[in-house]
Amino acid sequence: MATRMKLKLKTVFVLYFMVSLMGLVYALMQLGQRCDCSEHDLPKDRAISRLRDELYRLQAQIRKLEATKQPQNQPPKSSLPTIFVITPTYSRLVQKAELTRLSQTFLHVPQLHWIVVEDSPRRTPLVAELLRTSGVTFTHLYVPTAKERKLQEGDPSWLKPRGVEQRNEGLRWLREDRRDQNQQGVVYFADDDNTYSLQLFEEMRNTQRVSVWPVGLVGGMKYESPVVEGGKVVRFHTGWRPNRPFPMDMSGFAVSLRLVLAEPKACFDGEAPMGFLESSFLKGLVTLDELEPKADNCSKVLVWHTRTEKPKMKREDAMQSQGLGSDPAVQV
Ligand code: UGA
Ligand code: MN
Repeated sequence: MATRMKLKLKTVFVLYFMVSLMGLVYALMQLGQRCDCSEHDLPKDRAISRLRDELYRLQAQIRKLEATKQPQNQPPKSSLPTIFVITPTYSRLVQKAELTRLSQTFLHVPQLHWIVVEDSPRRTPLVAELLRTSGVTFTHLYVPTAKERKLQEGDPSWLKPRGVEQRNEGLRWLREDRRDQNQQGVVYFADDDNTYSLQLFEEMRNTQRVSVWPVGLVGGMKYESPVVEGGKVVRFHTGWRPNRPFPMDMSGFAVSLRLVLAEPKACFDGEAPMGFLESSFLKGLVTLDELEPKADNCSKVLVWHTRTEKPKMKREDAMQSQGLGSDPAVQV
């Protein structure tokens, strides 16, 4: 009896041991397996797929908008008339500073082509490098002023006209290179030392023949300006020789490219008497009656005839005589 009891107990123990072992083995097998998490992550997955759909929808919408986009206040860039700016320039201590300032103004003007004409027998590395790195569309030309026409050290600046051959060289390039009479464009003569408002370029952009506006700080006046009555220029506000055909500074007018091409003989006369340089060019192109007043009927100053002071080199010269001058390899 006791032996049977012992046997039964042993069977129960063995059974119990076997069942526990199987449980343990099953548990261990489950541990190594990947869980099928679909049930827990379903809401997360749905959110991700919804967001992805939304993203695709927005991307498609952006593509569609971009394809049909027009700048709101401006016609598309390519149909803007090009502004050809002709700048005479010559080598001196402040040249790089002047051209840097000018180029950085022009960078803000759409559809502008800068024609830089050096008063020099060749292109200089300083100007070439400045133009190359400026980011502005440009053409780099050169022509030296004839010796007898060139201002000499110590001459008063008004003695001889400046930048004449250079502006004429710019005109020659335009006439040879831009012969397409239908090209919409405007030509402006921008000296390298003046100060130009960005608004000025939008005023001149749609010039039909010759557009005009006031110039600040010029001719010994706060400003010089065409006087406008009934939308027409009738005379000029100037303190000096008002009877000149066009008593205006070079920076006070722009000419349509079409007119420049249609009148191939119009150019600047280096022999013109003092103050008649602008008139020598304009009188072949336009009459007073045809001038197009800009800048709010010539009531706003958008360009200033600023002039840069010549830097004094007293200390530099003194240092140089002691062999301590500035490093010539540093370009100023
Ligand atoms: C004024 C006018 O604003 C000029 O447009 C005009 O050419 C000049 O008078 C004149 O009567 O000839 P102003 O400030 O006296 O200008 O002249 P600058 O600014 O010294 O020179 C006008 C332009 O010619 C400048 O862009 C300058 O870089 C260039 N220039 C000057 C030369 O190319 N070579 C020179 O020897 C001197
Ligand atoms: Mn000047």
